[in-house]
Amino acid sequence: MHKVCIVGASGKLGRYMIQHALDRGYDVVGVCREQSVGKLDGFRGRITIVPGATNDRAVIRKAVAGCDGVLTVLVPWGMQRYASGTAQAVLDYAEPGARLIFSCGWHITRDGRDVYSWKLRLLVRVFGFLARLFRVVDLNDQVEASRRIFASDRSWTVVRGSDLEEGDSQGLPVWSRHVGDPVLASNLTRRIDFALFMVAALEDEALIREAPAIVGCRAPSALAHAGSP
Ligand SMILES: NC(=O)c1ccc[n+]([C@@H]2O[C@H](COP(=O)([O-])OP(=O)(O)OC[C@H]3O[C@@H](n4cnc5c(N)ncnc54)[C@H](OP(=O)(O)O)[C@@H]3O)[C@@H](O)[C@H]2O)c1
Repeated sequence: MHKVCIVGASGKLGRYMIQHALDRGYDVVGVCREQSVGKLDGFRGRITIVPGATNDRAVIRKAVAGCDGVLTVLVPWGMQRYASGTAQAVLDYAEPGARLIFSCGWHITRDGRDVYSWKLRLLVRVFGFLARLFRVVDLNDQVEASRRIFASDRSWTVVRGSDLEEGDSQGLPVWSRHVGDPVLASNLTRRIDFALFMVAALEDEALIREAPAIVGCRAPSALAHAGSP
């Protein structure tokens, strides 16, 4: 892994991923909206920035050229198929053999075998309904983006984040194939460690074509159940 592209680089998760990638000595190309380029001033001179919408296929084509890995923040903003457009462009234009890591939340399921709490189901329904009503966010499009990734024969990993909090790193989160596993019960991960998991996944072949649901390694449920079958 020498050169990586971060799609959605200016967001909170994106900026943490930039730092982790630089710490590993990777060359970093970041894609972010024109109006957000200033958010990356702290990295000036250390990364290459390709400004533009992340679902602009020409922008993605240019940004991922020559990259061994692509880290994509999947966000379903608006009603213009932002998440699925972004995912499709990355799937279409990333270099053959590149590791493709995508972020989303626990609500995305790969095989329907996740077991969700009533709170999470209610939240997704209410938030999803209101967000669509006001045309701010289309959660269905994040589902569609994930469906396309799961169907692809690329070397993908879809990292499914729990609720997030800020704070110093606690280390690499633990993961499970399915929400509902007791190890995940605490439902909390530091955002900096979500980013760490995404970047570490670039070089973890065991995560190819997996959709790990993650939780902080110091979360009570992780401490209680880590290592159990
Ligand atoms: N927040 C949570 O609690 C949570 C929980 C689980 C999983 N996740 C997952 O984590 C990832 C991002 O999480 P985050 O909360 O840390 O967010 P974030 O890093 O702040 O990322 C938000 C991204 O959305 C972009 N964005 C914001 N408004 C936009 C708009 N109107 N149109 C287009 N792009 C826009 C931002 O770009 P700009 O810099 O240009 O604004 C940024 O790249 C997502 O994949 C999400 O599913 C989040």
